[in-house]
Amino acid sequence: MELIQRGRRLRGHETLRRMVRETRMDSSSLIYPMFVIDGENIKEEIPSMEGQYRYSIDQLPYALEEVAKAGVSNIMLFGIPAHKDPLGSQAYATDGIVQRALREGKKRFPELYYITDVCMCEYTSHGHCGVLQGEKVENDATLELLAQTALSHVEAGADMVAPSDMMDGRILAIRQRLDLHGHKETPIMSYAVKYASAFYGPFREAAGSAPAFGDRKTYQMDYHNRREGLKEALQDVAEGADILMVKPAMSYLDVLSDVAQATHLPMAAYSVSGEYAMVKAGARLGYIEEEKIVCEMAVSAYRAGADIYLTYYAKELAGWMREGRIG
Ligand code: PBG
Repeated sequence: MELIQRGRRLRGHETLRRMVRETRMDSSSLIYPMFVIDGENIKEEIPSMEGQYRYSIDQLPYALEEVAKAGVSNIMLFGIPAHKDPLGSQAYATDGIVQRALREGKKRFPELYYITDVCMCEYTSHGHCGVLQGEKVENDATLELLAQTALSHVEAGADMVAPSDMMDGRILAIRQRLDLHGHKETPIMSYAVKYASAFYGPFREAAGSAPAFGDRKTYQMDYHNRREGLKEALQDVAEGADILMVKPAMSYLDVLSDVAQATHLPMAAYSVSGEYAMVKAGARLGYIEEEKIVCEMAVSAYRAGADIYLTYYAKELAGWMREGRIG
């Protein structure tokens, strides 16, 4: 055989394989999503998300300690309020669940970096991500409440806000509100390219945020569309977003890759609850190897262009990265 090029030459030895790796990661890029709930003495496992919990504020410090010990420095907070109403008023209440969690967290673990999900769906009685007029989610009226929510998070100590509602114009509305109150340096991570996805199923159980009627297709994106992802991303760049997210991760790597190439902003990929639940279920049945699957999923997101990875496996991944088992 007169083969000049042999791809296998670079695969013959583990040290060499590591030398020529194109994708390298470290745990500083991981964000761990966490659920905080009104009440006391609560640490309840989310049935569809084995190993993930809802924590009341008194239990939160123990959970944060685990996060810090695992080597994860960034968290994303989601709140589950005791009372929901049509306007989602607990989302922007000064003593709302996320606001209190921030104060407690910042006091106990100031070294962690606190990002908050800004949305209405966990707080509205109807479960939609905005204010309703009849059965329609009213875009512009929702912007005011989102801006108020983001500001209240920052005033309670949030280091960064992450709007996930998919209303038009929310990045600008939030940016202007934060600036007006002197928070010019607080970054916004936009869930810029967020698809209407069945992969959010377990999250909605966790947060009790499934819409009471209809679905989210009038605001979240249609998953048949790829170029529209760019349109949404570029719009958010124009409105002042600092970081762009694509969500979900695994089935949307084409979109992630497009947006990463078309913009110069740091890119985040969110491996959502359904991805986590599938891996957990498959592993429990013994059909797949959990660690290997999780590592492969994570690397694929970074390979596609992610700089930041949100995952319910953040604590495990940080350990595997440290031990050199991944990345
Ligand atoms: C709030 C929000 C959702 C998720 C993140 N922020 C749910 C939704 O849009 O229905 C999903 C996260 C996950 O599934 O892990 N809008």
